[in-house]
Amino acid sequence: MAESNQILSQSGSVYPAPLHVVERAWISPEAYHEMHKRSVTDPEGFWGELAEKELEFFQKWDKVREWNYPNYKWFLNAKMNITHNCLDRHVRDGRGDKIAFIYNNEKNEEEKISYAQLLTRVKKMANALQNLGLQKGDRVAFYMPLTLEQIVAILACARIGVVHTIIFAGFSANALRMRCEIAEAKVVFASTSTSRRGNDIDLMHVVNEAVEGLKCVQNVIVHVRKGDSYSFKSGQLDYQTLLESGSENHEAPALDAEDPLFILYTSGTTGKPKGVLHTQAGYNLFTHFSTRVSFDLHEEDIFWCTADTGWITGHSYIVYGPLSLGVTSVIVEGAPTFPNPGSWWALVEKYKVNVFYTAPTAVRLFMKLGAEWPNKYDLSSLRILGSVGEPINPEAWEWYYEAIGRKNVAVVDTWWQTETGGHMIVTMPSMDQKPGKAGLPFFGVDADVVDRQGNPVAPNAVGFLVVRQPWPSALRTCYGEPERFNNYWMEMKGFYYPGDFATKDEDGYITILGRADDVLNVSGHRIGTAEVESALVAHESIAEAAVIGKPHPIKGESIKAFVIAMNGVQVTDQLIQEVKDSVAKELGKLAQPDEIEFVEGLPKTRSGKIMRRVLKAKEMGTELGDTSTLED
Ligand code: WTA
Repeated sequence: MAESNQILSQSGSVYPAPLHVVERAWISPEAYHEMHKRSVTDPEGFWGELAEKELEFFQKWDKVREWNYPNYKWFLNAKMNITHNCLDRHVRDGRGDKIAFIYNNEKNEEEKISYAQLLTRVKKMANALQNLGLQKGDRVAFYMPLTLEQIVAILACARIGVVHTIIFAGFSANALRMRCEIAEAKVVFASTSTSRRGNDIDLMHVVNEAVEGLKCVQNVIVHVRKGDSYSFKSGQLDYQTLLESGSENHEAPALDAEDPLFILYTSGTTGKPKGVLHTQAGYNLFTHFSTRVSFDLHEEDIFWCTADTGWITGHSYIVYGPLSLGVTSVIVEGAPTFPNPGSWWALVEKYKVNVFYTAPTAVRLFMKLGAEWPNKYDLSSLRILGSVGEPINPEAWEWYYEAIGRKNVAVVDTWWQTETGGHMIVTMPSMDQKPGKAGLPFFGVDADVVDRQGNPVAPNAVGFLVVRQPWPSALRTCYGEPERFNNYWMEMKGFYYPGDFATKDEDGYITILGRADDVLNVSGHRIGTAEVESALVAHESIAEAAVIGKPHPIKGESIKAFVIAMNGVQVTDQLIQEVKDSVAKELGKLAQPDEIEFVEGLPKTRSGKIMRRVLKAKEMGTELGDTSTLED
């Protein structure tokens, strides 16, 4: 990990965007600079005009932005409904037959749904949920794989102002239970199974264990997958029967611009996940506009974002942004390399995907498997390749550009977070691309790289990335924990502080170097060291634990745990495996440590805080840095 103020060498290559991309781009480099300047000096004018042009409101706002530091609101007193913008208006305007989603999976089962069909199903489900007694402001949890059924249910919640909270269907029963409990979810949407690398994974045993005895959950709505049979328990309803019970007539109610849309739990520096809350209008506008301009999407384009709806990327760039824009998206349930490492490229060829958006960890995986796989397919439809979730190293960038993009695409890196709702630092398609550098601030994003005192650092010097003012899709709070929200704006001199180290070059391009806090990024998934540590000490043989991230060629980071055994415990390989399994059980497989090392003691400050930095330096064989606060 870089230290603050270290000067990084200016690494070289610049790739101009291909002419065919530049020619059709919504935003030229000149327009970018002019528009960006206006967006941060006159945010109300900029976003107000855009909202009028891009979205529909049932009642106009009184004021575009109100900023009572650290709180802010956008489009005050406006009335709207995000699903009207995502569905009703497209159908009304004659685009009902346009395909909204092309679904595919590991068994190559295809399903297509048009905007009109999607709207009808959403209306039916919205009625059904209202008949169940759900009301605006209630919370509904999800534990479903990426399916059309899930998207219908998400949108039905949004339509009636019910706040969805999606839990990635790879999390453990404990993790699901904790999230349902703190969100006080009244209903849980679940699926019986999903297929991953050819294995059928039973999801209902996780859900049943999670909701067992949980008072807040009144109903579980179970989507029984094709070929599955399921015996319903009390309080459990069949998804399909429920859907069919709802009438097809449902007017989108006028919701307030600031009504909550969803809560998404993400990792912070404590053991408890943060419930990041987003609201209707600002989020709608920002994801709509960033989908259009970051990916340069036009009416006929086919877009494929490979994320899962359990993460923010799926919320913003599978569901809300593309639908609001009226795009046709490909969605795929399952693993990237199953049944073979060419499966995804076969789908790009089949559906003539124009814009493809994935994570560096996937790119590195494909890179390891070799260019012979993508080489078998016609990928000439691709125009833009997006990247998200972690820094993309120049080698992976160049492989993506050459092996997938055939040197005829723009590679668009996008830095952002669950909290930011949408893209914050982007290399717009028409701009010069610099491998490894995320790019320039998105519209409305007043970003800089500063030192601990909040002063801008010199070009290429390492500092903290900050944002000076709120943008429309900035998180509004951490659900039930406003003090955790305040920390984002109070830790660093009144700026929004995302917790990442960065540099900025002479042209203003920002490079993200990684987290400056105790949060890991494993395969693009955020995992708090504290979460893993508390899962480790929950094991009866473990007294203390400290967790670090180690560079990993594919996952970006891997998890290494240093643990102290309880007195008298014999350390065996079996125990190590058992401890690893217990973390998977506690949190989910994605948080399972790759390595566990038993140690006698852990480096701590005099006040008893574990110095993970020291462990990491020792592990990596690098300088220990300042150890003056080290106890021993
Ligand atoms: C990291 C994912 C470098 C970063 C959308 C951030 C990135 C965290 C990039 C947020 C990128 C995300 N380049 N790092 N293009 N995108 N990150 O909330 O550390 O799951 O703070 O949101 O991922 O992760 P989150």
